[in-house]
Amino acid sequence: MTITEKINQLKKEKNAVILAHNYELPEIQDIADFVGDSLGLSMEAAKTDASVIVFCGVHFMAETAKILSPQKTVLLPEKDAGCPMADMIDAAALKALQSAHPGAITMCYVNSSAAVKALCDYCCTSANALKMAEKILPQNNEIIFVPDQYLARYVSAQLRHDFILWEGYCPIHAEITPEDIRKARSLHPGAKVIVHPECKPSITALADMVSSTEGMARYVKNSTDSEFIIGTEIGIIYRMQKENPRKTFYPASDKAICADMKKITLERVLWSLENLAYEITLDPEIAAKAERSIERMLQTA
Ligand code: 13P
Ligand code: SF4
Repeated sequence: MTITEKINQLKKEKNAVILAHNYELPEIQDIADFVGDSLGLSMEAAKTDASVIVFCGVHFMAETAKILSPQKTVLLPEKDAGCPMADMIDAAALKALQSAHPGAITMCYVNSSAAVKALCDYCCTSANALKMAEKILPQNNEIIFVPDQYLARYVSAQLRHDFILWEGYCPIHAEITPEDIRKARSLHPGAKVIVHPECKPSITALADMVSSTEGMARYVKNSTDSEFIIGTEIGIIYRMQKENPRKTFYPASDKAICADMKKITLERVLWSLENLAYEITLDPEIAAKAERSIERMLQTA
């Protein structure tokens, strides 16, 4: 039996579903039941009737799935698959920021720990951050936005409204430079440039389109253009190429690789199903508080 056959057999035996982020390795995307962005994955986790969720992504994503499906077994095949940006703020730091702005509403990016989410009024992903901020502003124009300063700056520029920021960032997206975009454009003059809002403002300003990873996948599918420069983690190009075999995709930077997203291999998925590990567990009080902000995120899809 091949490793994929073993995984599929165990999946049936244990009534498991495999969810994978768009940045995962090609072979992981191929065995997944659902591949998507943070918002899509959270929605799948909330509605699945499987008993076990094998989450091929990073820790905060599996944690979010557990908060939404507390009665299910949620597994992260590699316990060290984390998100450096999510680790840039903790609950104590957020509490201190909130004490300095006692009248503010707090919105967190889903790339944050459950303990941080538990302190927030709203949670958002890159797919709905703008919509959520638009909803909140009429109630309160003082908004703390953590931890991604660049997503915050992007939304803030759209709304022409300043947020109280945290200086977090994604090290992978922040390393894409204007020079990378200019070089890619000169090599592929007909290509559309699409980038993620975790990129710096100097990059989003040069793009034809700025979107979450799912929005990017949708855009390239529906577009009449045939060449695209992709300004995000390069793993998504595998999905784009698979779904659009006649179109051509170029990475804005071939250095845009998230090592954490590449930690989960087929061997780890098999091991995870065999041992039902690593199981995500959460303090019930933190999970209940975090759920409030995550439910609000799902209502603004
Ligand atoms: P989305 O897939 O939600 O756009 O997020 C990108 C990302 O960096 C996830 O860690
Ligand atoms: Fe975190 Fe960036 Fe990796 Fe996404 S790509 S998991 S934001 S470090």
